[in-house]
Amino acid sequence: MCGIVAYTGFREARPILMEGLKRMEYRGYDSAGIAILNGGLHVSKAPGRISVLESQIKPDEMRGTCGMAHTRWATHGAPTQINAHPHVDASGRIAMVHNGIIENYQSLRTYLKDKGVEFKSETDSEVLVQLIAHFYDGDLEVAVRTALRDVRGTYGIAVICADEPDKIVAARKGSPLIIGVGDDEYVVASDAAAIIQHTTSVIYLSDGEMAVVWNDGFRTMTLDNVPVTKQVTDLEISLTDIELGGYPHFMLKEIMEQPQAAADCMRGRVNIDEGRIHLGGLANLARELVRTKRIIITACGTAWHAGLVAEYLFEDLARIQTEVEYASEFRYRNPIITDQNVVIAISQSGETADTLAALREAQEKGAIALGVVNVVGSTIARETDAGVYLHVGPEIGVASTKAYMGQLLVLTMIALQIGRRRHLSQPDLQMYLDALHAIPEKIERITKQSDAILEVAEKFKDANNWLYLGRGYNYPTALEGALKLKEISYIHAEGMPSAEMKHGPIALITKDMPVVFIATKNSQYEKVISNIEEVRARKGRVIAVATEGDTEIADMAEHVFYVPDVPEPLQPLVSIVPLQLLAYHAAVLRGCDVDKPRNLAKSVTVE
Ligand code: F6R
Repeated sequence: MCGIVAYTGFREARPILMEGLKRMEYRGYDSAGIAILNGGLHVSKAPGRISVLESQIKPDEMRGTCGMAHTRWATHGAPTQINAHPHVDASGRIAMVHNGIIENYQSLRTYLKDKGVEFKSETDSEVLVQLIAHFYDGDLEVAVRTALRDVRGTYGIAVICADEPDKIVAARKGSPLIIGVGDDEYVVASDAAAIIQHTTSVIYLSDGEMAVVWNDGFRTMTLDNVPVTKQVTDLEISLTDIELGGYPHFMLKEIMEQPQAAADCMRGRVNIDEGRIHLGGLANLARELVRTKRIIITACGTAWHAGLVAEYLFEDLARIQTEVEYASEFRYRNPIITDQNVVIAISQSGETADTLAALREAQEKGAIALGVVNVVGSTIARETDAGVYLHVGPEIGVASTKAYMGQLLVLTMIALQIGRRRHLSQPDLQMYLDALHAIPEKIERITKQSDAILEVAEKFKDANNWLYLGRGYNYPTALEGALKLKEISYIHAEGMPSAEMKHGPIALITKDMPVVFIATKNSQYEKVISNIEEVRARKGRVIAVATEGDTEIADMAEHVFYVPDVPEPLQPLVSIVPLQLLAYHAAVLRGCDVDKPRNLAKSVTVE
């Protein structure tokens, strides 16, 4: 979603800020803007891509060593030049960039209008900069603090003022902010990707904290002005993680990286020699986890699909009652939760607003909270009692692929670890460990089919409606396969349990409709074969994901993507890979921008 980058130091700010914006492009946005301090404020904003902004900037007017820039994902008001950030107060002296939502912006706007303030944009954000200006009396830090007292909602903000050159005031509540600490230069950003090129030394602002940053120092404090000492830590990502490295798109790079990502995720955790799983992040809560009677998983989108797989895994391998909940629904219900329950929040970014709120709701009611998160130091990672990082490296492509793989692996490892201490025998555990150990190589084998999958995508790319069907462990894969296709190719696709097809969706099947069956050899294979027959009888176009060596299915399906044989609970790890590639190729063939699909954001920080 929106991205913030601000710089103060000794170098020319504009190139640093523009580079930072480009590094954050993957987050999704629909307008961008920049402000530089140099005597006064010089601001440039544009709807559309960063390249549009770049082309309209006059470098000579944009000189200065302190400034800020922003990519906006529209919420309040269309993606126009006026609504783009930075927003500037009526006097033209103070500029602000904001991520998040000011919930009481209407009443603040009315209050300020009554005082004679004129608004230019339709945004909630402009209200905040005007409020800061309203309180400004020569000290930006004080004005920001005073204004934030009247604000309800979420924010990550950076503010600069023409009367206080070289100074950035930043504050966060519910929207991440990181400060990159260099030698006499600082980069404040909402995303590590905008910082990594300059320094790996960072501090993470926590919720309810502020920072005042100059070109040669900084101070941190709470919103109530209590000084806070922050630790400078090392960023875990490297520049190569966030560069294309010869691939045409991040999505393809990340699909192809999955063998390595899977190995990284399991490193030091799957120990086949000792016959055990070691998840250091859960060590302090091992007893509570084994004893819990109920696990509630909460997540959104792809992470929710991983949660659905986990529901099968925890019930199957650990015999614990498990429910998986859409975070957006869970947070507003009055869910029954006790202090005997364990809540697991799954989130690649660790910042998804609904997942975070659902987690807090569960914690409020006494549940033990675990996080399954990719981004180290993210809000969900910090607010949970314990957790397991994915360690798959940064995911830049908007469509989640390697993070989904990491989520599945971590959840499988958790289920096995708890399972062994409940119902799972050591020989069974050993069998799963051996199978997990072989997963990276098996995924690699599937990625080598990319060209063959491209041919199938070519054949079906113009079909505008697709069905994805699977049973048991293959049902979440059907949902995830359909989501991948629709989000990047804009083809309508629905996933559902195979048997549900008969209860309505079968009416859709025609000779033009591709129906993707996830039909690997498992306990429900025969049933799925019957469902394939039902589709064939109605002339549907069957594409199957099947287990290597299954020749029977080749006679029934128009195309088969073969995946290596693995134990049933591990099948989601392999079955999804050809479907990621299918979605990728279909989208590219249709001319879609797969890394920046329309309307989508990488990290959904609004509810
Ligand atoms: C789809 C996708 C989204 C995310 C969802 C949750 O490819 O990436 O559906 O899975 O927005 O995001 P995180 O995992 O960051 O909480």
